[in-house]
Amino acid sequence: MSFSAGWLELREPYDRRARNAKVTDALVAELADRTSITIADLACGTGSTFRALRPRIKARQNWRLADNDLSLLARAPQSSPPDVNVVTVPIDLNHDLEAALDGPVDLVTTSALLDLVSDEWLERFAVEAAARRLPVYAALSYDGRIEMTPADTMDGKIVSAVNAHQRTDKGFGPALGPAAAKSAVERFERVGYFVVQGAADWVFEPKDREIQLEMLSGWAAAAREIGDLPLPDIVGWLTRRRDLVAAGRSTIRVGHVDFFARPTGMR
Ligand SMILES: C[S@@+](CC[C@H](N)C(=O)[O-])C[C@H]1O[C@@H](n2cnc3c(N)ncnc32)[C@H](O)[C@@H]1O
Repeated sequence: MSFSAGWLELREPYDRRARNAKVTDALVAELADRTSITIADLACGTGSTFRALRPRIKARQNWRLADNDLSLLARAPQSSPPDVNVVTVPIDLNHDLEAALDGPVDLVTTSALLDLVSDEWLERFAVEAAARRLPVYAALSYDGRIEMTPADTMDGKIVSAVNAHQRTDKGFGPALGPAAAKSAVERFERVGYFVVQGAADWVFEPKDREIQLEMLSGWAAAAREIGDLPLPDIVGWLTRRRDLVAAGRSTIRVGHVDFFARPTGMR
């Protein structure tokens, strides 16, 4: 599955605002004593997590930004301020997850990835991270909650179709979609991690027209692909919701979860 640079750029400010402060603070506290750190950012896209965390980490930083999309990697930061070193790593995380974690890595980060992966991949990730005693920061996993106001009678059916679409294969086998964050937290706890988690919801206000229109089109396309709803119903819903956006009357909340998992006994 591919993601456009334009979409990642559009969502980044909302992602940044949504990131859960308690979770980020737990990560920053964990790193407080370090003078230098190497971070593997999995499925980095154009570097959103790098840009969010870099100013928060006081240690000298080496970032390994890993993704399989070369056009996104080409847009990731190539140069950086003093004391921050960045390398990009073209890699397919479905096949070569272990290679992305190998070497002198101190922390794994990721954002908006876990809802794309399968149960099997998540198990592998937790086991491989635990075997290396790596702390893991995973932000912005979609959790299945979508609230739109004002309400429309079709909203529930569209959200169900979107959540069904979320569970289709995104390149890692059948995706966990909305179940990803809960499963990940349970898995990391089971392999001996202490986990701090919290909500990281997107909140789109009436003025956030561009991202609302983009989301609504994406949801209509997902519902069409699932094929359970009559096309005229999907089109009618999209038209009504777009009219609300144009009238400056639409608010949308999309549920996400962030977590920071550290192997117990780390501090
Ligand atoms: C929703 S985007 C998130 C990007 C970035 N972390 C962010 O928050 O903006 C998902 C990312 O996963 C990457 N991805 C998907 N499948 C992958 C795979 N098999 N190996 C490596 N990266 C993959 C995509 O290229 C994309 O950059």
